[in-house]
Formats: sequence, structure tokens, C-alpha cells
Amino acid sequence: MKFETANFLSIAWKAATGAGALIREHWQEPKNIDYKGAIDLVTSVDRQCERRIVEVIRNYFPNHSILAEEETDWVGTEGSHRWIIDPLDGTTNFAHSYPQFCVSIALECDGQVILGLVYDPLRDECFKAVKGEGATLNGSPIRISGVRELDKALLATGFPYDQREKADFYLSFFKAFMTRSQGIRRNGSAALDLCYVACGRIDGFWELKLRPWDTAAGALIVEEAGGRLSDLSGNQFSIRGDETLASNGAIHDEMVNAAIAAAVARGSLTRS
Ligand code: IPD
Ligand code: CA
Ligand code: CA
Repeated sequence: MKFETANFLSIAWKAATGAGALIREHWQEPKNIDYKGAIDLVTSVDRQCERRIVEVIRNYFPNHSILAEEETDWVGTEGSHRWIIDPLDGTTNFAHSYPQFCVSIALECDGQVILGLVYDPLRDECFKAVKGEGATLNGSPIRISGVRELDKALLATGFPYDQREKADFYLSFFKAFMTRSQGIRRNGSAALDLCYVACGRIDGFWELKLRPWDTAAGALIVEEAGGRLSDLSGNQFSIRGDETLASNGAIHDEMVNAAIAAAVARGSLTRS
């Protein structure tokens, strides 16, 4: 690994553990909650975590750009590097003291994500990947699962914050996957869902309307663990796109076909 990348990673780790400590300290306490939408919450801890992470990164790389979910969209003078941060992925879980959430930090260089780090502070699990250098969990290499058929697969998904308005649309995908897989989990943290694909705890994951901070780190971790990403039609995945389909590769085409079957069952090929 280049010295520069190792340096980026160690700062990402310093930032993630700082935020992780805050999350651990507060997760069982009553939360101070604001609403960004009817069911889209943000707690004071989300904001504190973001400030803590941004402070660490700015301290070491004052010229880098930073995009973080809650309050930071900063364009630095060194335009090629952009940190993409979800200070607390799984806020609804956190707000209810349901133990599944993480910190997600990625670094984009000239539009390409070159490193990703996802830290689960309760399990003390750190998933990391560097472009072209593989993925690890607490320092040990990880690989996607060996499940070959959707019929034998355990999947995960999540629902966007317009789930009340578009329930039938999202449930059409759920039904298609439910009737073709062994089971579906809704864990509540997309970044961890992606990491679970990467380390073989689940075989596939899909969700609509995720944002760059949800997927930037996790998508690289999936790729570097040998997995595959696309949109729900099998086209190229983008962290700025609307659709995420991640899998161990072996079941990917079957998952795309299931998503297409959902569209057919709805009687149209339109997606909103
Ligand atoms: C959310 C979580 C959840 C997913 C939502 C995301 P947040 O992120 O990743 O699992 O279903 O779509 O927005 O709001 O907790 O950072
Ligand atoms: Ca998120
Ligand atoms: Ca968040």
C-alpha cells in the first residue's frame, strides 16, 4: 500500500473511532431528535459525530473536499480528493437503542472511491477496503459467500424514507425476492448491509434511493471482497445513482431477473 493511502486510512480510522466512542457512550440514553421528514430522523449525536469526524479530517487534510450527510458540503482547494461521510448510518435504530448502526467514511479521488471504512462501534468491527488491494474485517481478509443460487440465498434490504407514500412499489421488489430466496433481513444500516455481503453473512442486498454517504465505503468493500454491484436492471452502479444491487456475484443475474419480474408484476416498467 502506498504511504499516502496508509496515511488516509489511519486518519479515517482515527475519525471513525472518535465518532464510534460517542455513539457507544450515548446509544442507550434517551435521544434528542429532530425530524428531516415524517420518518427521517436526526439526533444530536449524528451531528456531534459529524463534527468530530470533519474536525479530524480537516486537521490533517485542510484542502480536501468533504461531503457529509448532516451539515457539511465543503469544496476544498485541492479539488481531486473528497471525503464522503455518514457519521451515523442507522439513525432510526440508534434512536430506538436497537443495536445496529455504524460510521461510514470513504475517500474519492478524481471521482473514484479509493478507500472505504465502515466501523460498527458496538461489535468493534472495522470493515476496510483499498481500491485494488482487497477488503478486511478487523485486519483479516474477507470474501463474499459461496452461495450459487438465489433459492439458497439470504438477502437484506432497506426502505427509503418515502416508504409510506410508495409502499406498494417497494413491496413489489420485496415480494419478488421473498418468493425466490431463503429469507430477507431488514437490518436498518445500508453501510453494514453492504459489508455483510462483503464478508458472506448475507448473499445479496438491494435498496432504492440510497445516497453517496450510505454506499461509498460499503460498495468498495463489496467490490474488493469479490462481489458485484449494479443497479436493479444490471447496469453500472454509481454511488450517485438511485438503485443499489449488491451480491456475491454468483446470484447477481438471478437478482436482476427478480427485480425485473417485480416490474412486470406491477404491470409496468416504470420505477416511480
Ligand atoms: C439509512 C439506513 C437505512 C436505509 C435508509 C438510509 P441513515 O441511513 O442506511 O438502512 O434503509 O435508506 O437512509 O438515515 O440512518 O443514515
Ligand atoms: Ca445512511
Ligand atoms: Ca446517517
